[in-house]
Amino acid sequence: MLDVEVAREQMAEERSKLEELQIVQALAQPKELPALPAIAVRVMQITSDPKAKLPDLKRMIETDEALASKVLKFSNSALYGRAGRVSTLTAAITALGFLTVRWLAVTASAHTLFRKSGGGDPDHAGLWEHSLKCATTSRILAKRIGTGQDIEEAFVAGLLHDIGKLAILDKLPGYISRFCQWCEALSVEFSQVEVDVIGVDHSEVSGHVFELWNMPPSLSDAVSHHHSPQMAKVNRSMAEILWTANEFFPMEGCGHPSPTDEELATLPLMLKHNMNERDVAAIKEETMSRYSELSDLLR
Ligand SMILES: [Fe+2]
Ligand SMILES: [Fe+2]
Repeated sequence: MLDVEVAREQMAEERSKLEELQIVQALAQPKELPALPAIAVRVMQITSDPKAKLPDLKRMIETDEALASKVLKFSNSALYGRAGRVSTLTAAITALGFLTVRWLAVTASAHTLFRKSGGGDPDHAGLWEHSLKCATTSRILAKRIGTGQDIEEAFVAGLLHDIGKLAILDKLPGYISRFCQWCEALSVEFSQVEVDVIGVDHSEVSGHVFELWNMPPSLSDAVSHHHSPQMAKVNRSMAEILWTANEFFPMEGCGHPSPTDEELATLPLMLKHNMNERDVAAIKEETMSRYSELSDLLR
């Protein structure tokens, strides 16, 4: 582990470099933030238009071969309980429903985005794995809690809650691994190191990205506060779900050891909804099995 003094010196050095580069100012500008692929934007527009009909959505999806094949693949997957019976796009959209096609378009686009900006480097790979696990856990929690939270929205929020880290990684390659060493040396949270060194933390940047993408304001609020759910004003229960999912599957190697099942069972959301250690184990198991299915389907 790094010595505390060495960590402080390295942080001061990086801080002055970033001040020169005006990184905070850059991260506040829409043109500097990741863009949601156009196909996802169009699918989101169509699926949120109450007058839109199935042929409109089908025509849109047909324009993107990769998405069309994923829609077919998903509609035939075990994840949706239909093994190999759907052969046309119309039947696939009918089987999945507009809402599922919507999150699928966002998920497939996010996958492209994470891969495009990073290739195979450990920070991007670790971030994608963490994001997909958090998405899956968030969806499971939303379903179990059943507070009227849309479960597919919980998935999308979980998948993209750390999009701010992706935006920062584009500017500061390898920053996650570097900052994690400092977290560990100083025994502080990752967000705290970001604020100290960069001047802004990734959850704030995630909120900007969500606003830029015209995501529902309740989701922007939840992702902006995924490390401080008590501060969420519009959608505190979604922010609590995201925070809890992060506790279940923290990013590996970041000085924050994974809590035990016993500890997870005492998190506020778990206590509030009478979930115990058995539920924790079941949620973890379901997450891992869905995570591997999803990884395969997205490949
Ligand atoms: Fe996270
Ligand atoms: Fe985060």
